[in-house]
Amino acid sequence: MQPDRLVLDEIQRRLTTRRVGRRMELYDEVDSTNTRAVLLARQDPSADGAVIIAEYQTQGRGRLGRQWLAPPGSSLLMSLILRPRLLPSQAQRATMTCALAAVQAVAQVTSLQASIKWPNDIVLAGRKLGGLLTELGLRGPELDYIVVGIGLNVNLDTTALGEVTAPPTSLSSVLGRRVSRLDLLVTFLQALEPLEDQVRQGVSPIGLWREHLSTLGKPVQVTFEGDAIVGIAEDVDEDGALLVRTSGGDLRTILAGDVTLRR
Ligand code: BTN
Repeated sequence: MQPDRLVLDEIQRRLTTRRVGRRMELYDEVDSTNTRAVLLARQDPSADGAVIIAEYQTQGRGRLGRQWLAPPGSSLLMSLILRPRLLPSQAQRATMTCALAAVQAVAQVTSLQASIKWPNDIVLAGRKLGGLLTELGLRGPELDYIVVGIGLNVNLDTTALGEVTAPPTSLSSVLGRRVSRLDLLVTFLQALEPLEDQVRQGVSPIGLWREHLSTLGKPVQVTFEGDAIVGIAEDVDEDGALLVRTSGGDLRTILAGDVTLRR
């Protein structure tokens, strides 16, 4: 599939946000947009709402030390720098807003209803459409910045990825046609700002996030650092932790990990 190209001027012409995306860097190739965003956040305390985008990453990173692979021009690969006044324990709220904005953008641009698989996957018909990788910067005990990296498979031939952990999908493979990455990007940034404003006013996005989670009510196995917890994914708390009811009746609060649905 011939890749289209994102153009900075076109993106900026269509954006009507106040903060999100007002500062933007677009690279043909970068190691990782998250790495670049973390550097910028450390260098420049005024970089709030900045967005780093790349057509290709040579060292794209996923959660739990995994690689993130995407051929040039096939995906939306971006990282946002956000500086809301939150406790470090509330930082997942920023990731939730980004996941919600991604689901809203996909729905607005394609009419496809994607959902969120705890903690940070975007899924469509049970396959992985995208993922989010959040990295925090602390100043003493306080939160200095949050970098949320997002990879969304847009016009991606999923067979080009080789073997990957979660079965992938892309918008083009579901729809059988290309989807405008420009439309998706602009719609995403426009959707994000009001959600992020709410978080800055102290409101957790948990209500909306819960509605879009595909994990709740299902039997799951959650693994993290060699530990496995089995039970029913009963709920999430307002900072995004997963509450799993084990067969012994305990309610376990899980902050991070990988979820597998059990039959
Ligand atoms: C995951 O599902 O494991 C999270 C994947 C996050 C990938 C994105 S692509 C843009 C940004 N830059 C990176 O290196 N990673 C994130």
